[in-house]
Amino acid sequence: MQVFITRRIPDNAQELLQKAGFTVSVFDKDRAIKKDELIKFSKNADAIVSLLSDKITKEVIDSLPRCKIIANFAVGYNNIDVEYAHSKGIVVTNTPDILTDATADIAMSLTLACARHICAAQNYMLEQKFVGWKPKLFLGIELRNKIFGVVGAGRIGQETAKRAKAFGMRIVYYNRSKKNEFENGTSAKKVSLKKLLKIADVVSLHLPLAGNTFHLLNRESLDLLKNTAILINTARGEIVDEKYLISLLKKKKIFAAGFDVYEGEPKVNKALLKLENVVILPHIGSATFEARNSMAKLAAENIINVLNGKKPITPI
Ligand code: NAP
Ligand code: GLV
Repeated sequence: MQVFITRRIPDNAQELLQKAGFTVSVFDKDRAIKKDELIKFSKNADAIVSLLSDKITKEVIDSLPRCKIIANFAVGYNNIDVEYAHSKGIVVTNTPDILTDATADIAMSLTLACARHICAAQNYMLEQKFVGWKPKLFLGIELRNKIFGVVGAGRIGQETAKRAKAFGMRIVYYNRSKKNEFENGTSAKKVSLKKLLKIADVVSLHLPLAGNTFHLLNRESLDLLKNTAILINTARGEIVDEKYLISLLKKKKIFAAGFDVYEGEPKVNKALLKLENVVILPHIGSATFEARNSMAKLAAENIINVLNGKKPITPI
């Protein structure tokens, strides 16, 4: 049986799949695969390892007559028409849990970097502007006793909140269901989205992108943010009306924003490159050796199970 991997991922995936007796081919260019290439190279595949940048649409799924499993190398799966894949009898899997700490670390890093102007201060040094200690140079915001608002208190949201609590912050969260264990462990309070946006000093987004979360933070909701607020997005760019957020940042209507993800990725709105009150990262939430190796292993194990007639480990 044949497995197609849409881009080079850690070698352990290929090794495991070959050891299990499968023929593995990898799209070996250092760029995201294009739709036509994806269709061409995966047409004989019994399984595919896809990336979050691969759009697995109805058209693509219709061109996969032999495929039994699409193993997404990510926890988010908004790139896949899961319902359609299921209707064709194709199993879809993702890589939850093993990237939670890595992504929570990035959300907290963005929080600290925004609160203390870390990137603007580094640029100042690189531009050799530092001529000595100054009483009012890069004054930032302390986190202790401030309110950390988690939007989407799932795996990553909860882990990020635990980090914020360790910095002395009080936690509020907005989520579909109540999270009792999380509340008991962190004294977090469940509030409405409106209330969270009004009271939080840091708002950190951790929802999946779906029809009901697209532009959840629109003009109306973004206008509720305090002018001292910091907004962190490590979830998906499309959850926020990015253009409007940029207009607020330009007018200094909020303190700062930290981005790991962008609306219309991989495009990045050029205005973000010029703003001092933003920290921008190239979608590196899960980019640790530990997380990426575990993600490759899990994707391979899901495929091995399904192609051997067993249950997948992490089905969607
Ligand atoms: P998760 O455990 O499924 O958490 C998502 C949370 O959002 C759940 O608590 C869920 O509530 C809640 N939720 C979903 N839809 C909602 C809605 N419409 N309104 C209110 N709450 C809603 O997922 P995760 O593992 O934490 O990952 C979250 C997202 O982070 C992923 O989908 C992905 O897009 C993003 N991510 C980004 C990176 C990166 O590199 N930047 C890395 C990993 C993940 P229930 O529990 O009630 O269902
Ligand atoms: C990364 O963005 C993921 O969803 O795993």
